[in-house]
Amino acid sequence: MNKINFVNKNCLELTKDIEDNSIDLIIIDPPYGVNFLNNKLYNDDKDFVKTESKKWLKEISRILKEGSHLYIFVPTLEVDLWVSNVKETEGLKFNNIIATQTHNTNRYLKNNFSFDLQLVLYISKGKAKRLNKVDYQKTSQSWLNDKRNTNPKEYSYKYSSFHKELKSNHKNNKFNKISHGNQKSVEFVKLLIELSSDENDTVLDCFTGSGTTAISSLLSNRNFIGCELNKDIFEKAEERIKNTIGNLDFLEELKQYYNLQNKKELNRFNKLKEKVFKEIKIF
Ligand SMILES: C[S@@+](CC[C@H](N)C(=O)[O-])C[C@H]1O[C@@H](n2cnc3c(N)ncnc32)[C@H](O)[C@@H]1O
Repeated sequence: MNKINFVNKNCLELTKDIEDNSIDLIIIDPPYGVNFLNNKLYNDDKDFVKTESKKWLKEISRILKEGSHLYIFVPTLEVDLWVSNVKETEGLKFNNIIATQTHNTNRYLKNNFSFDLQLVLYISKGKAKRLNKVDYQKTSQSWLNDKRNTNPKEYSYKYSSFHKELKSNHKNNKFNKISHGNQKSVEFVKLLIELSSDENDTVLDCFTGSGTTAISSLLSNRNFIGCELNKDIFEKAEERIKNTIGNLDFLEELKQYYNLQNKKELNRFNKLKEKVFKEIKIF
């Protein structure tokens, strides 16, 4: 089982003890600066987030490995603030924005469009390392021989299926029992993890909330480091994480009863695993 290091702390308290260039991937969903919870649980004030986010990004740039990726969930109305803060942070490179549809609504705002997208900034420390799951295709011989092609490449990128998955995944989520007002989809975060890190790498989320990134890391065999400032939220997340570990332990035990070298048995095990995941109870 991979390691989980989850504490009830402020994010800067956690990161100050982490070594430079030691984290393989960071996924954060920071407080929004939009007074969503009326500041009852933590300081969500716009100006506060604006100042603090610069300190958070500086720390992230220090602890992330060169070439590694950073994803930040941002609200539509704050995207300008986050992009400019990222661009001003030494070492970080802003690469793109992923937009996923959160819901289809038939309610429209007066003189505005609806807010139905979840935006995620895709950033790297320096030049981004390769994304996993990128498909290549061999260049055809006729194109290689074509005189108009001055710099022929043997392979080219193929539009990868993960683009489609990313867009469709946000709410299609069997783990999505809401325990936190801003809870994100385990399947979506798991996809980001699989795209941007390898098994046994370490993923960090210093605004863990209900534990989505921790659970997604466990399900994809990554180690996890994280913290949550609010004690009530922390305790609920801890329980959710323990619950997942329990289910994964159960699957590990079950594995022993199957000969996984045998294709038929492996299929039976995988079907059962799917069933356990579907019925997994993560409140
Ligand atoms: C947008 S929510 C994260 C939700 C999470 N992605 C999920 O799926 O449940 C942000 C979380 O950050 C926590 N938080 C706010 N300020 C923090 C800080 N300075 N350090 C650590 N956690 C903080 C809040 O209590 C809140 O639970």
